[in-house]
Amino acid sequence: MTFKTDLRWSDVTPKSLFLNRRQLIAGAAALAASPALAASPWSTDEEPNSLEDITTYNNYYEFGFDKGDPAANAGALKTDPWSIVIDGMVDKPGTYDLADVMSGQTIEERIYRFRCVEAWSMIVPWQGFELAGLLKKVGVQSGAKYVAFETLTRPEEMPGQQSGSFPWPYVEGLRLDEAMHPLTIMATGLYGQPIPNQNGAPIRLVVPWKYGFKSIKAIVKITLTDKQPPTTWNKLQANEYGFYANVNPGVDHPRWSQASERRIGGGLFGGRVDTLMFNGYGDHVASLYAGQDLTRDF
Ligand code: MTE
Repeated sequence: MTFKTDLRWSDVTPKSLFLNRRQLIAGAAALAASPALAASPWSTDEEPNSLEDITTYNNYYEFGFDKGDPAANAGALKTDPWSIVIDGMVDKPGTYDLADVMSGQTIEERIYRFRCVEAWSMIVPWQGFELAGLLKKVGVQSGAKYVAFETLTRPEEMPGQQSGSFPWPYVEGLRLDEAMHPLTIMATGLYGQPIPNQNGAPIRLVVPWKYGFKSIKAIVKITLTDKQPPTTWNKLQANEYGFYANVNPGVDHPRWSQASERRIGGGLFGGRVDTLMFNGYGDHVASLYAGQDLTRDF
């Protein structure tokens, strides 16, 4: 994704260590104290990328436009306390503390392929719970057809938001059947630790059969609606980024091929793999799009 900005990234804080000693120890303690996570049949058995790969090569424009900017700058974000407004066509609208959002949900490890629209990919061991569980808890009303998501707006802690050239806040959306699919999770952890800030702490969406930009970070609002919600990259460049954004090697980005991808960590010359339809999750999700023209609904 390329996007012109007048921001000068040399102005923001220098790169600092993203995981300090205290956080590492806290993470290890949490891991030791928590019961073993249930192995999930939804997980891939491919080897996950290293924690370092996953936490130093990021897209998170609230913290800058370069891959290293989120790791350098996201440490300043305060993620506790955290609450999520859930509104629109639900039986129990309200402002829910993160603990209330998570209560009653089963946290599972999900090792997923993650494919960015920029044609790179990783294997990520998330911990999280199915979005369907949360939607059931708040009660989706019968007319609802879509779920809209919104990221935090806090320019004091998110230097990228000091640029007026991006339509903040970052917003995304799913059709209700996509949101209810068991592969769709709200991730709260990575490698058994609370999810690092640069990866979307304290809670982000993960939709593994779609391009990574659908997987919105640092969610503060979830709205059930009967209209297809606007999405950030579609607003920016509608001919390049659609609402559906299903991984599809047969539909190229106007400026590059989507037939293959660079697996991060595979070295400079190795690591190129064929891109799979629906990122390899077609057996589970292709039926959601039966009868739909995916070259038009890209
Ligand atoms: N969410 C917000 N709020 N802001 C962003 O810039 N970038 C998206 C997505 N979610 C983004 C976001 C894009 S383009 C990708 S590829 C993934 O986050 C990257 O997730 P990762 O950094 O955990 O790999």
